[in-house]
Amino acid sequence: MKLSRRGFLTVAGGTGAALTLTNCGLNPSPAQAGELLRSQAPLPEPFKVPLPIPPVKKPVRSEAGVDYYRVVQRKASLEILPGLTTEVLGYDGLLPGPTFDVRSGRTTVVEQVNQLDVPTAVHLHGGHTPAESDGWPLDLLMPPGDHQPNTQRAATLWYHDHRMDYTAPQVYRGLFGFHLIHDDEEDALPLPAGDREIPLVIADRAFAEDGSFLYPAAADGPGVESSYMEGVVADVTLVNGVPWPVHEVDAVRYRFRILNAANARRYELAFDKGPATFVQIGSDGGLLDAPIEHETLMIAPAERFDVIVDFSQYQPGDEVTLVNRLDNNANVLRFKVARKAADDSSIPAKLSSYAVLPKPTGVVRRKWRFRRSDAGDHKGWTINGKPFDPAVMQAQVKLDQYEVWSFVTDVHHPVHVHLAPFQVLSRGGGKPGTYDAGWKDTVDIRPAEVVDVLIKFTAHKGKYLIHCHNLEHEDMAMMAAFETV
Ligand code: C2O
Ligand code: CU
Ligand code: CU
Repeated sequence: MKLSRRGFLTVAGGTGAALTLTNCGLNPSPAQAGELLRSQAPLPEPFKVPLPIPPVKKPVRSEAGVDYYRVVQRKASLEILPGLTTEVLGYDGLLPGPTFDVRSGRTTVVEQVNQLDVPTAVHLHGGHTPAESDGWPLDLLMPPGDHQPNTQRAATLWYHDHRMDYTAPQVYRGLFGFHLIHDDEEDALPLPAGDREIPLVIADRAFAEDGSFLYPAAADGPGVESSYMEGVVADVTLVNGVPWPVHEVDAVRYRFRILNAANARRYELAFDKGPATFVQIGSDGGLLDAPIEHETLMIAPAERFDVIVDFSQYQPGDEVTLVNRLDNNANVLRFKVARKAADDSSIPAKLSSYAVLPKPTGVVRRKWRFRRSDAGDHKGWTINGKPFDPAVMQAQVKLDQYEVWSFVTDVHHPVHVHLAPFQVLSRGGGKPGTYDAGWKDTVDIRPAEVVDVLIKFTAHKGKYLIHCHNLEHEDMAMMAAFETV
């Protein structure tokens, strides 16, 4: 029997370095897929370092309708833990990479220069992107320009590495960043802006004694060490690349675009002290039609939530901390309310003309089963019983027609589709869940659940992917190719 190199058994008996990692062997929380990886380095006191804002990338030149950029993927030594250095793989040597701040309707052409000693493939997550620029996991030689037509509406997208079998360790080491698209519809809204509009990327990481990233790579090839097949969750929470930062705010409304860039960790974000809540105004694919208020925010890997938080409910001098309910209220980020200030922002009752689509009848239906397989040639994570094979198209999908896709799980899987956003029609046979509103490109599917979505692909013919965005699952083959025709 030939076992896939990404299968469960390929590292059978794997001894050596991997076993020196501290592995508690328990799920940190029943709601959390993954194994906890503990840092060996001394960890800093939280809330000492100010929250950094990733720099906005400037084009090298612009012409009618097109902005040209150049990004160098390189190693850099950053001081993430005080007094230690961490070697990162970064876009422009940064973690997170620079933020692309672009307009709907203007094309972005990015020259990606790879100065790393590993191959990479850049993918714009949530992008309506031609296949040749979508970051196919085997397109390892960078094309002269990665074309992002940005034809879609305003939304919080992100870009990250997508190299086959190595996405998890390469994203873990730093290859991710924001790509924000703006448009006139969104600009016309009286939402908090300027330094009151803040992107927040949350990711957990573990550090070795010398400050380097700790990652349980398989000793004998691609993928993760077998005891971390469920996913790597770690004990340091980075926000915008800094462990447990602190941010001073005025007692006014702020807009936060929150991205979960963790490999496997899900967060249920909450404030340790009321009365602040999260007023959701957007999801993965842009603005909702109307705001939704949440007491806590459940966010799976790769999901984005665009929210407004009103700090005018606090007094100057108050401190309020964002915590993770799924991890015993572990710290994430602290806000210090500094002073009262004027605020001319508001949250309109109607945000966007985005339409909730009627449930169509007589459309093509497809089932995508996300399962662990312990039988047959491949023992590992599969979709419809098959491990990822870039040569096999699991579906031919016609452009410009609605389809209903059902995602079926065994354990927790955050399911992501390239090229087209979708709307959740039903969860577990009932109504969509609290966090399912709007246009999504990633949807968190709980154990033994079925989620139906309505999807339509447009404009671009080619090979695309559907996969689990738990990056250890993805690298261990929980990915499928399909072709738009
Ligand atoms: Cu964010 Cu195919 O990935
Ligand atoms: Cu994607
Ligand atoms: Cu998964």
